[in-house]
Amino acid sequence: RTEEKVTINFVNRDGKKISVTALTGNSILDVVVDQNLDFDGFGACEGTLACSTCHVILEEDVYKKLGSISDEEMDMLDLAYGLTDTSRLGCQVCLRKDLEGMLLRVPETVADARVDSQQESST
Ligand code: FES
Repeated sequence: RTEEKVTINFVNRDGKKISVTALTGNSILDVVVDQNLDFDGFGACEGTLACSTCHVILEEDVYKKLGSISDEEMDMLDLAYGLTDTSRLGCQVCLRKDLEGMLLRVPETVADARVDSQQESST
């Protein structure tokens, strides 16, 4: 398998666009970590499908291109803050050449499925 470079674009919480180049096969979470993109709280469970903080909002054509979503991801997505029709979990989406130029919006905030219940009871 040959790895190829793909350029993808994030829109962070301040509405700022960030373009990065990464190799195919990496997940969106890998890219955020490797490139030190400073998205507070992003990827809290390190890709183990336990937190939903890696929630990203895709464009509709990209969302469709990616195809089906596992039940496990669906369950976790349901807990994500600001869920949309084109939401995915960044740790479950791997870069492919045909995703070149894709745009990912980082939601305003994160809901960490592992800690939210504790926070609610303490406030
Ligand atoms: Fe936690 Fe993706 S990093 S679900």
